[in-house]
Amino acid sequence: MITKHIKYKKNKLHIEGMDAEKLAEKYGTPLYCYAATHIKENAEAYKKAFAKVMPKNRFTVCYAVKANSNQSLLTLIRKTGAGADVVSGGELQRALTAGIAPQKIVYSGVGKSEKELTAAIKLDLLQINIESEVELERISRIAQKLRKTARIALRVNPDVDAKTHHKISTGKKEDKFGIDIGDALRIYNRAKKMPAIAATGVAVHIGSQILHIAPYKRAYQRVAKLVKDLRNNGHAITTVDIGGGIGIRQHEKDMPINLDAYAKMVRDVLGALDVHIVMEPGRSIVGEAGVVLSRVVSVKKGHHKTFVIIDAAMNDLVRPAMYDAYHAIIPAKKSARRRMTCDIVGPVCETSDVFLKGEKFPAMQAGDLVAITCAGAYGTVMSSTYNTRPRANEVLVKGTKSALIRKEETVRSLIAADIVPKWVA
Ligand code: LLP
Repeated sequence: MITKHIKYKKNKLHIEGMDAEKLAEKYGTPLYCYAATHIKENAEAYKKAFAKVMPKNRFTVCYAVKANSNQSLLTLIRKTGAGADVVSGGELQRALTAGIAPQKIVYSGVGKSEKELTAAIKLDLLQINIESEVELERISRIAQKLRKTARIALRVNPDVDAKTHHKISTGKKEDKFGIDIGDALRIYNRAKKMPAIAATGVAVHIGSQILHIAPYKRAYQRVAKLVKDLRNNGHAITTVDIGGGIGIRQHEKDMPINLDAYAKMVRDVLGALDVHIVMEPGRSIVGEAGVVLSRVVSVKKGHHKTFVIIDAAMNDLVRPAMYDAYHAIIPAKKSARRRMTCDIVGPVCETSDVFLKGEKFPAMQAGDLVAITCAGAYGTVMSSTYNTRPRANEVLVKGTKSALIRKEETVRSLIAADIVPKWVA
């Protein structure tokens, strides 16, 4: 979608102050481009919305690193004061390397290994979100051995339908995430008897690309009730991690949640508990701030359809193939050309390598540049080298400055990574 920082100037698409065509010429295509100012503003929007309704030191934005874990982006986000939400030892390392303090890092994730937990406990993170009783026992054992106290929260599953794509819903009882909210009190009672465990938090996350406040409210009301029950049973709960999932405007008709309204709802439902609020937004910070620039390879006219084949593919951005996600595609140069109906597809040998079907688009020809929008989140992090296609370059733009933010991958570097044992050769 067109945004404040990704828009047309004199009919030419610009990422902040840079002409998309110039970026494509300089860095090649397909190309991930991110608008730095946009990312900064998105991260600050959370801070501003919550600052209006609660004291400054009572909430922490922990950016969900999984959405985009590039060091440049993490650094930008860290500079807004945010911490991180990580789900693997690798993401933890990335957050630390970008200078995010351990005391601002929450560790979520449904299957943390012994090694990952040991590293996390040693670092004295803000909180480890526990996904099962078995994990609680494991953490207790490791922390005791290390003579540490692990600050934990139980991630509860509130059984709320987030009304999003079923593949990105996490808060229904049939989803693999969290601990059934009905079992929570019993498990907190167990945790209390564990000397190396400080069960000071409750965490919840119900899904991603959520466009309505109502499911959040239902989930937080259940959490509020749990916190009261826990306190009545002698548990000192000081933190509520309200998760992430706020959706972005992928489609023109999408109406994302207003952050002021969201913050007010959080205050209304959880404010009286006087807890520290931790948030884990990912997509809403980086999603709209990124595009994939791609050139048309050829236009294939069949009897039934016209296919516009572009040089970006499902290996670069898998969301359409994986979740039928809609990513609007816009031309880098507005033109008065007649519109045609086409499918916009990638060159990978898979039927699902389709970005858009039956789209009305200004007539395209080989060499034209287009932008796949809303690609900043879950784009490059989910990309692969399928069909021996090197991962697309990534560029950060701020005003009229641009820079490559990941080492270029080449066919040569992909082949060089393979090992052929002597007994095969
Ligand atoms: N916290 C937890 C515990 C999560 O599992 C997630 C995302 C987030 C925070 C951040 O959610 P966000 O604010 O980004 O919606 N690959 C999928 C999305 C998977 C989301 C997984 N969890 C996609 O491309 O739509």
